[in-house]
Amino acid sequence: MISYHHETKIFKLDTQTTTYMMGIADNKYLGHIYYGKKLEYQDLSYMLRTQEHPFVPSKLSREKLSFLDSFPMEYPFSGTGDFRESCIDIRDKNGQSGLELLYAGHRIYDGKDKLQGLPAVWGEGCQTLEIALEDVCVGVRVLLSYSVFEDSDALMRSVKVENIGTDAVYLERALSACLEMDDEDFEIISLSGAWARERHIKRQPLLSGSFVTESVRGESSHQDHPFLAAVSQNCTQTCGDVYAMHFVYSGNFLAKAQRTQFGSLRMALGIHPDRFCWKLRAGETFQAPEAVLVYSDAGLGKMSRTLHDLYRNHLIRSSYKDKERPVLINNWEATYFDFHTEKLIEIAKQSAALGIEMLVMDDGWFGHRENDDSSLGDWIVNEEKLPGGLKYLVDEVNKLGMKFGIWFEPEMISPDSKLYEKHPDWAFHLKGRMPSRARDQLVLDLSRPEVVDYIYDSISNILHSANIEYVKWDMNRALADIGSDALAPDRQGELSHRYMLAVYELQERLITEFPDLLLENCSSGGARFDPGMLYYSPQIWCSDDTDAIERLMIQEGTQLLYPMSAIGAHVSDCPNHTVGRVTPFETRGITALAGTFGYELDITKISEQERNMVPGQIAAYKKYAPLIREGNYYRIASYRENHKYDCYEIVSKDRSQAAVFFVQVMHEPSVKSRKIKLQGLSEHAVYEVDGRQYTGAALMYAGLLRERMYGDFQAEVIEVHQVSDRTE
Ligand code: GLA
Repeated sequence: MISYHHETKIFKLDTQTTTYMMGIADNKYLGHIYYGKKLEYQDLSYMLRTQEHPFVPSKLSREKLSFLDSFPMEYPFSGTGDFRESCIDIRDKNGQSGLELLYAGHRIYDGKDKLQGLPAVWGEGCQTLEIALEDVCVGVRVLLSYSVFEDSDALMRSVKVENIGTDAVYLERALSACLEMDDEDFEIISLSGAWARERHIKRQPLLSGSFVTESVRGESSHQDHPFLAAVSQNCTQTCGDVYAMHFVYSGNFLAKAQRTQFGSLRMALGIHPDRFCWKLRAGETFQAPEAVLVYSDAGLGKMSRTLHDLYRNHLIRSSYKDKERPVLINNWEATYFDFHTEKLIEIAKQSAALGIEMLVMDDGWFGHRENDDSSLGDWIVNEEKLPGGLKYLVDEVNKLGMKFGIWFEPEMISPDSKLYEKHPDWAFHLKGRMPSRARDQLVLDLSRPEVVDYIYDSISNILHSANIEYVKWDMNRALADIGSDALAPDRQGELSHRYMLAVYELQERLITEFPDLLLENCSSGGARFDPGMLYYSPQIWCSDDTDAIERLMIQEGTQLLYPMSAIGAHVSDCPNHTVGRVTPFETRGITALAGTFGYELDITKISEQERNMVPGQIAAYKKYAPLIREGNYYRIASYRENHKYDCYEIVSKDRSQAAVFFVQVMHEPSVKSRKIKLQGLSEHAVYEVDGRQYTGAALMYAGLLRERMYGDFQAEVIEVHQVSDRTE
């Protein structure tokens, strides 16, 4: 999969259908040669254009600066002549910054080393190339890692920086990956949004200057997403070129695409350099997180499926990874903070009778929390609300045959809490300044080991006190006023990353001590829906917006990158609590099939008619769950684009069955039936749909017709079964 060709000094990495090539120019500069469709080895070093003006420095030293500013750097450094976006910046003992990172060796090995303290892709059937670049003047070595798997088309990159000098230096920027692309009219795809409107797909041309998508909020965020793709103008779901980068990290990030003066495109991704500064003493190393790269020659659909398979097979680790997730009911939208044991048991009783398998008790069970203005940090059960404590409640729920799950927001502290009374300095704060509250809460200083231990022990004690089988780990505010009394002044720039490392450490400890726990991450809905979190929790709450129509767009953006088994999707009550829209219960059920299914409503209060539909919805979830968990995803139509209807399809890996999820958002009078072209089937196989037989080719190229349904917000699931594998 990985080879080095001495004569030409070319590195070649192959995945199933792609090739990535780098070369060494002038015996020292590592340059990017090619990323695209799989190629046999050939000397493509001419792509480095070292035979053209301004030539390599050994031939034309008077134009070295022009060389540095035009060469397709594999890992660009700054301060010495490359004026484009750089990946690394180091302030040395002289207070100066400027690097020249030159090739110093490489090794190719089977497997893939762990990234210390960080989430990363893992698994068998893998090879890694590690290239060392050095700057002897500053005294740093940079190790670039590239890993490829036998069963995947993705390429994983990460970077480790080592201080090989004798003095401390300050790492002010350490991005994880860069891609140099030639003069083509790429468009940029990113995901952006806001609370309750996360991950909407955005596409735009980039004619000049830069496109930036980023977060400096201490989380991957509602607003932007650590993902960036450059696509050819003709790119659709099924054709065209896609170059995608996705970051396996949950904190601040920068993803930038820059058009250079030569018309080429440089894309870079990594930890956001804003307020980042990591002190590296002699001998110390810094590990930057992993970036996943995908090239697709067959449009966005192929990119999605590559990422879905990679994350399902090589990122998620939970014992629930390949298992059906329990159908849950969460009491948040049912009761908010106003609940007690009897109320929860009543919800559980009615839920159990309908086939719901787990009750999740959301926010408000601890301290004296009656609304969102107190008690975070005091993880002690409120026995006034829950007389008999947690054990009694959980036992009662278990007696009904249901599992029990609980909500925590471990990273936070309320100023109105016993914890804050005792340890006001445990909240992040800038010296002499009162930190800004958000939702009346402050953020714990997780760079302090005693804080991490306190949180861990609090959670672990609660989990040991009763049979709790699920945790919803929430995080409800962005990070600001990031200062710590416990770190030296020249290390304050390390805090945001140290915070993320501590969150990862906490979750690692949790799933190690409780390996069968089902962990679901959440952050005011979906503000921390990212590959980093998937390493710890097999599912993530997608959005606080449970409206069946807004969810079409949120879920489409999420499905672009994530397998559906990771997407928390629930049926909630109407009018919807966020947008006030009223949609049919059936449609809410079908929209929520796009993930881990559950309910977010007061089952004791919905109408008899709706209650009667619950067992049917659960049966549908169970029927499609294996397909949704393991199958291939195809996007057929996007409501976001056409403003009328939405449609996607899941096909089993062996192509023998499929389910098509169709939502007619707007009824259009006097329009004939709608044509839906399926994808991913076997051309010559015969399939049955609605009692009629079609060849796969007919379903894919001619399509199916769907009768117009009466009314807005109507939905259906179309089942496709193979009846024979060949046409007679
Ligand atoms: C966040 C979550 C919700 C709920 C509340 C509780 O907003 O996204 O699902 O848990 O917090 O305060």
